[in-house]
Amino acid sequence: MLNVVIFGAPGSGKGTQSERIVEKFGINHISTGDVLRAEIKNGTELGKTAKGYIDQGQLIPDELMIDILASVFDSFKDSKGVIFDGFPRTIAQAGALKQMLADRGQAVSVMLDLDVPEEELMTRLIKRGQESGRADDNEETIKKRLLVYHSQTAPLIDWYKNEGVYKHIQGLGTMDGIFADICKAIENV
Ligand code: AP5
Repeated sequence: MLNVVIFGAPGSGKGTQSERIVEKFGINHISTGDVLRAEIKNGTELGKTAKGYIDQGQLIPDELMIDILASVFDSFKDSKGVIFDGFPRTIAQAGALKQMLADRGQAVSVMLDLDVPEEELMTRLIKRGQESGRADDNEETIKKRLLVYHSQTAPLIDWYKNEGVYKHIQGLGTMDGIFADICKAIENV
């Protein structure tokens, strides 16, 4: 099983590169942000809860997020592997993912850390907000998302270094160039 964690700050290219990885390696994709946005669109109770957090640039509570992740993961049958996009985002989530995979005789194969300077992140997200109207892509909320990233999510870099599966990926450059580096990292797993 190829289990890839794609990691990085908001706007670092996790979703963009995940699509390419899915196509090339034939694995399933779990984007927790996409799952939550679908719930919001469908007006579910979960969606209503999630919207309150997302609009404030805050994380959905760990317990809720971990249950969602496990139920999406278990919906894949005969999977060759999974790319986890947007999960984990806290140390608690990383521990839960490790346990969930271990319970199924699996582990994280590689963690890809897309490293992009903050100025570029802001430029990309403002542009996407203007083009797509994504509600959390406005300057005020992006700033909050970046603060949350630094305080709650970035500590996972050291966590995955300790696990021995960390790979740094230069996330600034052409999408093709970045994807080539990602492929090398995955093929060396
Ligand atoms: P989520 O949807 O995961 O948002 P995010 O992490 O903020 O990431 P983005 O989707 O904004 O960016 P990305 O890294 O995927 O970049 P993309 O490829 O789109 O989460 C949203 C919210 O949901 C969170 O804030 C939180 O509230 C909640 N949530 C989700 N998961 C959670 C969890 N596990 N726990 C708790 N809460 C959770 O690229 C961005 C833009 O840049 C695009 O327009 C793209 O075209 C462009 N771009 C990409 N690559 C390049 C490049 N190389 N050069 C130029 N432009 C590029």
